[in-house]
Formats: sequence, structure tokens, C-alpha cells
Amino acid sequence: MQMPDGLPAEIDLSRPSAARVYDYFLGGAHNFEIDRQLAEQIASMTPNLAGTMRAGREFLRRAVRVLLDAGIDQFLDIGSGIPTVGNVHEVAQSTNPKARVVYVDIDPVAVAHSRELLVGNDLTGVVHADLREPERILAESRESGLLDFNRPLGILLAGVVHFIPDTDRPGDILATLRAAAAPGSHLVISHSTYEDQPQEMLDAQRLSARTDTEITLRSRAEITGFFGDWTILEPGVVHMPLWRPDSPSDVDDKPEQFGAFGGVARYDRPAG
Ligand SMILES: C[S@@+](CC[C@H](N)C(=O)[O-])C[C@H]1O[C@@H](n2cnc3c(N)ncnc32)[C@H](O)[C@@H]1O
Repeated sequence: MQMPDGLPAEIDLSRPSAARVYDYFLGGAHNFEIDRQLAEQIASMTPNLAGTMRAGREFLRRAVRVLLDAGIDQFLDIGSGIPTVGNVHEVAQSTNPKARVVYVDIDPVAVAHSRELLVGNDLTGVVHADLREPERILAESRESGLLDFNRPLGILLAGVVHFIPDTDRPGDILATLRAAAAPGSHLVISHSTYEDQPQEMLDAQRLSARTDTEITLRSRAEITGFFGDWTILEPGVVHMPLWRPDSPSDVDDKPEQFGAFGGVARYDRPAG
């Protein structure tokens, strides 16, 4: 693998990393043998998981476009991953060249590659932080000077909240992030679920325990709860391919096969 300059020494090559396994599934080059072995094992148990990751990426792209149409021009992308095809700043800046994006990830490889990719792009920033420390993420995003929390913001949590176990109180984390946002802000969440899933998918998800970041599958109701009192946009919290597909033909007859729900909500100005 091509290592970018300045890759931090703290990378643990004895354990697979969720970000690098994800990168492998998406056809990226920023992964190690230990990641590929786990990815292949997961793939052999269920062919759907690689599709889930691609469907997640597609959902994120469609959601960002909807936010751009709503006038959002600044994005906080938490759990952004290793840069791959169709990164948020590329989607956003192709529509609005002035769109700003702050990427946040816990994984040092994801952070190093993001920084490498974004050299020279003054409207983007990268923060190395843990979603379990939302105040720190908010403080560092403010300090970056890229995001203005007095204006509508797009908060993107694509495929990341399921890495937060209930013991780390994901509901409180989401409440902290929502409380920092101005009216008109939007929240995008995609999250793995056990609802409508065959046993082999659940077994494969359990393999995530081998990475530093085990997955907690949740129900549609629990995932909907992460939006708090914000207004959930149509068509609601649904299996990802069903969320505003580009074309009806993009949705096959088993949209539940990707094992994750996606939804978008807007913070409407409180009455009075
Ligand atoms: C499945 S990838 C999703 C990447 C991207 N958001 C997307 O949808 O294509 C999940 C990412 O979340 C990151 N992650 C996991 N736990 C995290 C945490 N507690 N704080 C921040 N990032 C985390 C992983 O390192 C990984 O890059």
C-alpha cells in the first residue's frame, strides 16, 4: 500500500480497522493484508455487505445533493472514512464551488489520507477525533474557521453511529450535535439494522468485533430517535435504496438486503 507522508506511528497493524475494511470493500488501495483477510471472510459469509457499503455511499451522495438544493453550503462529516470515489467535498463543490467541508474520523489512516488528498483545498479541513467527544469535534470545527454554527449546517453521520455502543450514550452525543446547530440545519444518518435481516448478515456483522470498532445494530425506531425533534424529510427513515432514488430502476426488489436505514431531518425554527 502507498503510505502517505506523515502517517502517524500509532497505527495498529495487528488488528483490522473498520475504515480500511470499508476502503477495501469500496475498491480502494488504502488497506493492509489484515484488513483484506477480514473483508474476504465477511464477503464469503454474505455477499450483501459489500453492496451495503456501496449503497451507503450512494445514499450519502443523494442526501448531500438534497442538502445543497436546500441551500446548505457547509458540512460536518463525522466518520468520513478513507477518501474514495465521490467524497462529500467533491459532490458539494461540484454544485457549489464555495461549499465548505470539515471531515472527522477516529482512524489515523483515514485522517492522514484525507489530509493528503485535501492539500490545497482551502475550503476543507480534517479533524482527528472520536464521535464520543462531540464537544471537542464542535470546538475544533469552530477553530478551523471553516464552519459557522450561526448558519445552517449539514451534519453527516453516514455509517458511523452504529460504532457507538449504548453504554457510550449515542442519544446524548446526537443531542449535543443537534444543540450546536442553527435553524435550517440538516442531519443525515445511515445506520446498520437487524430489522428484516437474514441470520448470515447478523453473523457477518458480528465479525466487526475483531476491529477496534464493534457494530451495534439498531431498530428503525431507535435510529429515528437520533433525529430528536427535528423534522424528518420524506420518505422517512427507510432502507437506504428507498431514500429518494435517482430513478425507480435503481431500487431492486429487495431494498432491505443492504441492512441499513437512512434518513434526513431538518431543524425547523421553534415556534414563538
Ligand atoms: C463505514 S465507514 C463510513 C465512511 C463514510 N461516512 C461513508 O458513508 O462512506 C465508518 C467510518 O467511521 C469511523 N469511525 C468509527 N467509529 C468512530 C468514532 N467513534 N468516531 C469517529 N469516527 C469513527 C471509521 O474509522 C470509519 O472511517
